[in-house]
Amino acid sequence: MKVEIGCIFAPENLSMPLVYITRRERFNAAHKLWNEEWSEEKNMQVFGKCANQNWHGHNYDLFVTVKGQPHPETGCVIDLKDLSKILKDAVIDKLDHRNLNLDVPFMKGKMSSTENLAVAIWGEIKTKIESEGCQLHSVRLHETENNFAEYFGEE
Ligand code: NI
Repeated sequence: MKVEIGCIFAPENLSMPLVYITRRERFNAAHKLWNEEWSEEKNMQVFGKCANQNWHGHNYDLFVTVKGQPHPETGCVIDLKDLSKILKDAVIDKLDHRNLNLDVPFMKGKMSSTENLAVAIWGEIKTKIESEGCQLHSVRLHETENNFAEYFGEE
C-alpha cells in the first residue's frame, strides 16, 4: 500500500503547525543581458560585461520553499523526492547546460535576468506543487555568491 506523503494545508485547523520547507537544486546556464531595441552602445552602458556578445555563464542555485502542515503519519510537509522530481522535470532539465536567451521556451521574449528567471520558474512549478496539496511560498534564485532574486508570487 502506498503511503500518501503529500502535504495537507488546512488553515482552519489552527492546532497544526505551519512549516516552510525548502529544496535546493542546481543548474548552470549561459546568457547575456541585451535589449534588441537599444544600440550596442546603450546595451554596453547599461549591462556592461553582462552584455558580452559571446555569452557568459553562471552556476545557479535554486531554492524552492513550500509551505504546509506536517502530515500526521509521516511528519513531512511534502515528500522531498516528489518536490525534487517536479523541479527537475519542470525546470532544471530545461535550464541546465542551456542558453537562457535561445534554448528555454519559458524564457522566450524575456530578458534573461535573475529576476525574470525566478518569476518564470514560479510560473512553471506553481500548479504542479499545488497538485501535491501544498502551497508554493517562494522561489529564490542565486546567480552569484552575492546576487539573488526572490519571488513570492506577488503582482
Ligand atoms: Ni550574467
